[in-house]
Amino acid sequence: MCGIVGYIGTKNSVPILIDGLKRLEYRGYDSAGVGIINSGESILVKNKGKVSLLEERLADLNLSSPLGIGHTRWATHGIPNEQNAHPHTNQDGNLFVIHNGIIENFQSLKRGLIKLGYNFKSDTDTEVLAHLIDSFLSKDYPLSKAVQMALNEVDGAYGLAAIYAKEPDKIIAARKGSPLVIGVGEGENFIASDVSAILAHTKKVIYLDDGELAIITRENHTVKTIADKEIEKEIHEINMSLDEIDKGGYPHFMLKEIMEQPESVSNSMRGRLLVDEGTAKLGGLTDVLDRLVNSKRIIISACGTSWHAALVGEYMMEQYARIPVEVEYASELRYRNPIITGDDSVIFISQSGETADTLAALKEAKSKGALILGICNVVGSTIARESQAGVYIHAGPEIGVASTKAFTSQLVVLALITLLISRRKGMSLADGKAVVEELIKIPDKIKLILKMNDEIERLANEFKDAKNFLYLGRGYNFPVALEGALKLKEISYIHAEGYPAAEMKHGPIALIDEDMPVVFVAPKGATYDKILSNIEEVRARGGRIIAVGDEKDDELDNLADYTLKIPETIEMFTPILTSIPLQLLAYHIAVNKGLNVDQPRNLAKSVTVE
Ligand code: F6R
Repeated sequence: MCGIVGYIGTKNSVPILIDGLKRLEYRGYDSAGVGIINSGESILVKNKGKVSLLEERLADLNLSSPLGIGHTRWATHGIPNEQNAHPHTNQDGNLFVIHNGIIENFQSLKRGLIKLGYNFKSDTDTEVLAHLIDSFLSKDYPLSKAVQMALNEVDGAYGLAAIYAKEPDKIIAARKGSPLVIGVGEGENFIASDVSAILAHTKKVIYLDDGELAIITRENHTVKTIADKEIEKEIHEINMSLDEIDKGGYPHFMLKEIMEQPESVSNSMRGRLLVDEGTAKLGGLTDVLDRLVNSKRIIISACGTSWHAALVGEYMMEQYARIPVEVEYASELRYRNPIITGDDSVIFISQSGETADTLAALKEAKSKGALILGICNVVGSTIARESQAGVYIHAGPEIGVASTKAFTSQLVVLALITLLISRRKGMSLADGKAVVEELIKIPDKIKLILKMNDEIERLANEFKDAKNFLYLGRGYNFPVALEGALKLKEISYIHAEGYPAAEMKHGPIALIDEDMPVVFVAPKGATYDKILSNIEEVRARGGRIIAVGDEKDDELDNLADYTLKIPETIEMFTPILTSIPLQLLAYHIAVNKGLNVDQPRNLAKSVTVE
């Protein structure tokens, strides 16, 4: 939530900031702004709405400056408007502050500052930071000290940056709870919420950790703790190209990411399958494998789409590894004083690795002595670094706000972990080999499914005006029903509910009539016959049925109004295949309705507030 970017060097910062903000827009797109400082003069330009609007205004102004910071906002405190857009300033307008996170005690700080004579122009918590820092600058503290002293008074989360016209040779950045990286260049340096914003300029980054403050000049960077202890930070080399974060000829990131799934899923398993030994090799788990295998219980915790992947993981691990698994929303796990012991392993799944609820749950589970594992996509993200061990999904950057390729890659990694544990717990070599051999075939099977794109587009056209959808599945494909419904509602704004198919008769069946499309996720498997009965029940009540099922399943063709066919696979892998037609269906319905699928209203890619 909220994207931050900053530049100090010899070039004009304005295009660098705009390019960075465009790449960060997935984090929030309610308003955007930049603050630049040139020869002691400070200039602020900000507006409600997207970065493209800001870009147009800046082009008219023809500004240039070697020092600047920019921000794209996802509103928490205060509606999206120009006053609430960042950067925020002090009263003299010579200090700019941008912030991602929430200052929890901002009301009491604000009251104190108003008593001191400060006037507030916005409803944001961030403006408090600007005036608070100013209150120390006015006592002649240098900017770095003023920021440090202000942060000592602040409760809450922040990734922030500040620049000051009277000290035009530096950016001050600080982090607690919201991600921030320093990009290290030659005679220039950068800051950003994530590396995508600065990758065009440098591949060398330093990840700030919680409680750290950085003083960044053109040639140098110094990092210390907020408590003033200087620290040596490692410079990481980013192994990602700019092409990977562009649209690559597709109209939307979401479509590009759906279409990339043969490769992203291959990347998730690359180098991790031991075909002859019928098992997986996961370097990130080697040191903790005995403890994981001997866990009395595995808890998997996540939010949103990652939580749906966790549910599939529960089916996989309980079926094959025979370890009791519980799946918890991270936001619920955190606040109910959960019973977790040193005998438990807790796996946190997060594409971004920055989700605040997931991170808070991780810290809670860690404090109770469990083994903490992370399954993340973003390398070097906070959840990845806070975990004791883990597995990257290697899906590549996911920019579309609706998660697609990360989901299927999370499923692959959960399958690999399941295989690894199961083989250690007595799964036969033959069974292990069967799983490995089938997993290897999955990318080609995805390619076949993607060929249905045009057919699904036509189907979407037919259903785009529906007001409600029901998604039903059983067993492994119950979480896919939830995920299909989430994809549709978040990008098309059509109300959609996912349900276990058998639960339909306990209530939702009352909703069914000829205006209610019902999507059944019904590949062959343990509950296949039962789900056919559920389809009959919907037919009997006039519901329109779209069914996702196996390619050779003629019975389904007879029952459903429309069928979307997937190649056959073993049951544990069916969610990887069945979820893809549902991603395409949601995508085409939203595009048909003329909606912005990559940036749906009210959402942000990385949810860094609790
Ligand atoms: C839905 C979606 C969200 C995320 C959720 C968790 O398409 O993307 O529901 O899955 O916000 O995000 P991560 O996985 O980054 O922790």
